Formats: sequence, structure tokens, C-alpha cells
Amino acid sequence: MHLRNCLAGTLALVFLVAVLFEPSRQLYHRAQDWQAARGALAAAQSQGPNRSGDLVLEPHVQQQRLQGLGSKYEVKDPSAKLTLVSPLQISDAGRFLILMSTLRHNLLPKTVSAMILLVPDSDYPAFSLITRFALDFPVTVIAEADMFPPEVPSQAFNGYARQMLLKLLVAQHVKTEFYLTLDADLLLKRPMNVTSLVRNGKATFNPETYAVTKEHWWKGSEKMLEAEGCINREQPLFGVTPSVLSRRISTLVLERLEQLHGKGFEVMMVRDKHSEWSEYTLYRIAACFFGVFDTYHEFLGHSVYDTHASAWTYHAAINWNATNAFTNETSAEPFALVQGRTHLPERVVSQKIEQFVSPASARVAKKEGSAPKLRQLAAGAPRRAGLLSERLNF
Ligand SMILES: *[C@@H]1O[C@H](CO)[C@@H](O)[C@H](O)[C@H]1NC(C)=O
Ligand SMILES: *[C@@H]1O[C@H](CO)[C@@H](O)[C@H](O)[C@H]1NC(C)=O
Ligand SMILES: *[C@@H]1O[C@H](CO)[C@@H](O)[C@H](O)[C@H]1NC(C)=O
Ligand SMILES: *[C@@H]1O[C@H](CO)[C@@H](O)[C@H](O)[C@H]1NC(C)=O
Repeated sequence: MHLRNCLAGTLALVFLVAVLFEPSRQLYHRAQDWQAARGALAAAQSQGPNRSGDLVLEPHVQQQRLQGLGSKYEVKDPSAKLTLVSPLQISDAGRFLILMSTLRHNLLPKTVSAMILLVPDSDYPAFSLITRFALDFPVTVIAEADMFPPEVPSQAFNGYARQMLLKLLVAQHVKTEFYLTLDADLLLKRPMNVTSLVRNGKATFNPETYAVTKEHWWKGSEKMLEAEGCINREQPLFGVTPSVLSRRISTLVLERLEQLHGKGFEVMMVRDKHSEWSEYTLYRIAACFFGVFDTYHEFLGHSVYDTHASAWTYHAAINWNATNAFTNETSAEPFALVQGRTHLPERVVSQKIEQFVSPASARVAKKEGSAPKLRQLAAGAPRRAGLLSERLNF
């Protein structure tokens, strides 16, 4: 008995250590990886049409692959602005409002066409209050159930997979060519406009290599799209949220999945707890398969978020230096991440960034009477109420 307890204790300890160290290992990998990736990409800039290392498809091969796909695609908003997309649930409300305060402060005018929030059906009433805030772009809140075909009861499936798939499904609701995926634990640390992320019709990306992303995601996605052997595993590929996605490419992913797996492919994708794909691996592989990655993406010398200015562990988060992140002019990456999973209280995050998002210099007009609505929103997540009404001054 004693021995068994002792064993169990040891196992628990090993597990805890593994869990605690995993995120920092990932951070280390990401930072190292991007340094190498930047070098490789800089060297490849001169290579012309296939900077990414994807094979340039013969026109007839590309035509063949595109044949039989739906033709749902058209750009409805030619303004070249960005659409912001964020899958959220009520427990993200506090972090999300901190993110919003940084957007309000650091987004330059004429950057955002619209914001789309994708939320569980039960959180819809709370989040729809946001559409009444005074922002300089419209916010649309969509209940998850409305994103899936009627035969897919969205609540019945693995939430993580659902959120991943939503970032692709949302392409049907996006009107601009490019959309930016956001999680609630991001912070916009530098002034940003469209040019920060998209130039000459091509969006920058987080150049993560094959080795950093889970290998089974790449392999599973290749299988799911029947596109084995397309991506070049030696080249920097595509990282995670925040990322700028092309609506064209996301639409191709969805059309390819429907072509191969039929209507209702969503069921297959969100059923499995151990999904063998991610939205970004599917996206990157489909872009390669249809020969369009270099049409819509080009590494602009910086990625979307700054790994050095981000924190993945509690220790890193509690010591996270906001001054450093928000004032470092040599860092061209607009976003930083203080990962929500670190469970650093929102109060601490907001205290750290408060001076950098002071209402005095906010770029978006205040609207009277928003605070009670904020408190109402926070009622879904009571611990956060103080933070919301105190700091954000909507
Ligand atoms: C593109 O890049 C890959 C890998 O760097 C290379 O093998 C290929 O020959 C290049 N050119 C074309 C036209 O695809
Ligand atoms: C974005 O800001 C930069 C620097 O302030 C400026 O040069 C550029 O013209 C702006 N782009 C747009 C699309 O407003
Ligand atoms: C935070 O960063 C700033 C700017 O890089 C630096 O001056 C300051 O000393 C740092 N603070 C701490 C506590 O490390
Ligand atoms: C500022 O950002 C640059 C570019 O990411 C980085 O190399 C540098 O270390 C940062 N400065 C500080 C004080 O962290």
C-alpha cells in the first residue's frame, strides 16, 4: 500500500514536471526555430516565384486540381482592410477585453473592416453586448451552431477541434481577402495598420518549421487532403494564432474537404478527441497543393507575433516586462502573447499594460453608458467584473 502511494506520488510529480516544462520547451523551440527560419527565408527572397519552397505547378496541373471545386469564392470587400476573427467562450471575456483595450489603443485608422466573434450558443447573449460598444469597426457575433450544418450538433464535439475548424469555416462570413485570427490572450503591443501585415497583396506569416508543430498534425492533414508529399519539410512553413489567413486559401481547404469527404465532413473532423490536424497545417498544405501559397503570402521580414516579447509559463508571465514589449521599436511584430494557460490573473496583466493603453490617448471614441453593459458581460465571468469596469473605460 505504502509503496503504491509512493509510486503514485512519484508518477504525479513526474507528470507535473512534464506539464510545467512542456510550454517552456515549446517557447524555446519556437524562438530558436524562428531565428533559423528568418535566415532561410531571407536567403530565399531572391528566388522569385517560389520563395516558399513549394513547387510551382504547371498551369494544367493547377487547373486539374481546381476542377470540380465549388466556385463560392469572391472578394466582397475590396478595401484591402483586415477582418479580425476570434473564437471565444465566456471564460475568455476578461482577457478578451484586455486585448480589445490594446486594439483600441494601437490599431491605426482604416485597418479593420469588421470583427467576427465565434462563441458557444450559451455565451451568445453576453458576447452580443460587444456589438454595442463604440468601436470604429462593426462587430458580428456568431453562435457556433450557426457555423455548422444542421446535422452537426456543435456542442456534442471536442471543443478544441471545433475552435480550430471554426477558423476555417469563418471564411464564408469574411468579406475581405485577408483575416487575422486572434486569441483572447494576445496583446497588440505596437501601432498596426494593414501594411504591418500585408504588402502587395501578400500577407506575412509565422515561419515555424515542420519540426516545431506536432508532426502528426502535418501527416494527418496531408492524408485528409490527399496531398502527401507536397510541402517541403525543410522549409519554414506556417505557425499558429495569431496568423493572417487568405479567405481564398481557407475556402480551398473547405472545398477540398467537401470534395473528398462529402457534405458534413465537419462531423468527421470534430468527433475525434485526438484530432490529427490543425487549421494551420490544413491551410498550409492546401495552399501548397493548389499552388497558391506564394500568391497570397510572403515573409515580410517579421512575423505576426513576437516570441521574445511573449510569455508561455507562469514564471515568465509574472516576470513579463510590458515596458519592454510595448516600447521596443526595433520589434516589427505587432502582437505579444501572455498565454492564458499560465493562469496569471487578468488583474495582473491589466496592471502591467495599463499605462500603455491609457484612455487619454485611445483612438476610438468613448460611448456613454457602455460601462454597465461591460459589467453585464462580465456577469458571465464574475471574477473579472472588477477588472473590466475599472480599467477599460469603454
Ligand atoms: C522551388 O523550390 C524548390 C525547393 O526549394 C525546388 O526544389 C524547386 O525546383 C523550385 N522551383 C520550381 C519552379 O518549383
Ligand atoms: C501604415 O503605416 C505606415 C507607417 O506609419 C505608413 O507608411 C503606411 O502608409 C500605412 N499604411 C496604410 C495602408 O495606411
Ligand atoms: C523592462 O524593460 C525596460 C526596457 O527594456 C527596462 O528599462 C527595464 O529595466 C525592465 N524592467 C525590469 C524589471 O526588468
Ligand atoms: C527588441 O526587439 C528586438 C527584435 O525582436 C530584439 O532583438 C531585442 O532583443 C528586443 N529588445 C529587448 C530589450 O528585449
